Order: sequence, then C-alpha cells, then structure tokens
Amino acid sequence: MLKIAITGGDGLVGSRIIELLNNDFEFITLPSSQMDITNKNQVFSVLKDLKFDVFLHLAAYTNVAKANEEKDLAYKINVEGTKNVFDVVSSQKKKFIYISTDFVFNGKNPPYFEDSSPSPVGVYGQTKYQGEEIIKNQAMIVRISYPYRASFEKKRDFFRTFKTFLEEKKPLKIITNSLMTPTFIDDIAYGLKYLINNFSNEIFHLVGSQSLSPYETALTVARLFKLDERLISTTTYEEYIKIKPGLPQYSDIRSKKNNFYQMNDFETGLKIVKKQLQI
Ligand SMILES: NC(=O)c1ccc[n+]([C@@H]2O[C@H](COP(=O)([O-])OP(=O)(O)OC[C@H]3O[C@@H](n4cnc5c(N)ncnc54)[C@H](OP(=O)(O)O)[C@@H]3O)[C@@H](O)[C@H]2O)c1
Repeated sequence: MLKIAITGGDGLVGSRIIELLNNDFEFITLPSSQMDITNKNQVFSVLKDLKFDVFLHLAAYTNVAKANEEKDLAYKINVEGTKNVFDVVSSQKKKFIYISTDFVFNGKNPPYFEDSSPSPVGVYGQTKYQGEEIIKNQAMIVRISYPYRASFEKKRDFFRTFKTFLEEKKPLKIITNSLMTPTFIDDIAYGLKYLINNFSNEIFHLVGSQSLSPYETALTVARLFKLDERLISTTTYEEYIKIKPGLPQYSDIRSKKNNFYQMNDFETGLKIVKKQLQI
C-alpha cells in the first residue's frame, strides 16, 4: 500500500481525504504540533528518515480576508513553508502534490483552465501562487475551489455558513454579480485517489462541474434544506470587497484534463450531503 505523508491532515479538506481514502493508502499525518512547516530545521529532522512514497501538502494559511492584514505570516506559511517541505522531499526524489486554489486567478476573464495564466488579486492567492512557482514542473499541482462537506466541527465552509445562518433565522446578504465553483470534498478525495495512483508533474483542476453566483448558491442551500429563502438579500461584488478584499470576481474554474473522475454539480453534491446527514 502506498504511504502518503500529509500536512494539513486535520484541516477541512485533509481530514476528509484521510477519512475516505484510509483503506486505499497508509497516511502518515504531520500535524503542526509535530512539524511546523515554517521551521526549516524541524522539517528536515522530521522528514529525513520518514518512509513514505508521496508527500501531500495541504497545510496553508487559509484565511483569505485576514491574509491582507497578516501578509508576513501568510507568506511564511504558504511560500517559505512550501519551500521548506519541498526542498527535503525533492532531495529524496519523492513525489510531491501541492493543493492550490482557484484564487491564483484574478477572476476577470473566466473560465479558467489548467493552462490559464494566474494573476492573483489578494495576498492569499498571491502566496499560494508563489508556492506553485516553487514546485512548478517538479511536482503535481491540484487546484480546488470552494470546498464543502457535510460536517466538520473545526471549520465552517461556505455551505455550512449559509445553512447555519438560515437555520438560526439570521439574514444573509449575498453577491449576485460574481461566480464561484463549489466543490464537494468527497469528489476531491476520489479524484485525488486517481491522481495519486497515476502521478505526473502536471497541473490539474479538481473542481465542481458547475459555476454559479453566490446568490444562486445560497438559494440552492435554502431550497434543498427547506429553509427560508426570504432571509437572503442581495449585494454586489463591489460592496462586498470593501469589507473583505482578496476575492476574485468570476471564479469560474474548469478542467480540460479531468477525464478520470466525474465531479458533481452543487445541487447533486448537496443531495449526497443530505443523505450523509440523514435528513
Ligand atoms: N478552504 C478553502 O476554501 C480552500 C479553497 C481552495 C484551496 N484550498 C487549499 O486547500 C488546502 C487545505 O485547506 P483547508 O481549508 O482544508 O485548510 P484549513 O482547514 O484551514 O487547515 C489548515 C491546515 O494547515 C495547517 N497548518 C497551518 N499552518 C501550519 C504550519 N505552520 N505548519 C504545519 N501545518 C500548518 C493547519 O494545522 P493546525 O490545525 O495544526 O494549525 C491545518 O491542518 C490549503 O492548501 C488551501 O490553500 C482551500
């Protein structure tokens, strides 16, 4: 069985990948308490004698809005941290997979495919792209977008944020003139399973099969979970980024290369989530 060393294995995406692929691969988790990726010496001493076949790097500074205030920390984790782990893994000639984001694109001229040119708008996207640049052509880059899952105590994704607001009868003001590509994390895990078993140093987009506006997304959540749509009002992208900068406007990301795993659209993904939640 292939041994996968994984950073970020207790995060939103990583923990579900481990849950779903535990029978396919042997995971060796590297939590930040054991290996802080910004600590070069620690990274070297943890990895130097570790036995693994593939290194799956998810650990990142992921708070998009806050990254613009905590620029140095975002850089340290996403750029220097990536370099620290990649330097050791590549010196051992092991396979490396870097999980990246649709936020490497500026959202001005969609759609975005694997061969589109990145030009990030905020600090989070910039630092994730700088991470890509370090490993480009020497590792696999897998870009994901707006990941969601049925449950995860530690962090709410956009879907559970919308759902919780509506359940608590709190109003939501959602953007109409923008696009997002919601991606079911279970699909990311199964797509990744194929890519791990068929490794190549290329870029892949593992993203949902449909892009829609955040407003349509919120309405879909309300309808499917029978929550009150009237709580959802509208705003514009221009108003929203005054408070939360760093968001690309039209994040319509697609894949030219994914002929190996059929990703779900948002509504179908949510129907599976509903079944998983048994509601
Ligand atoms: N969530 C999204 O909307 C989204 C969208 C597109 C792409 N992505 C990418 O997908 C990946 C996973 O995202 P996520 O949302 O699952 O992340 P997350 O839940 O925010 O978790 C971040 C992970 O990174 C680890 N980490 C942070 N700083 C670290 C450090 N200095 N050393 C070692 N580990 C560190 C954290 O460990 P601790 O818990 O120990 O701090 C945690 O496991 C990231 O690379 C992200 O850029 C995410």
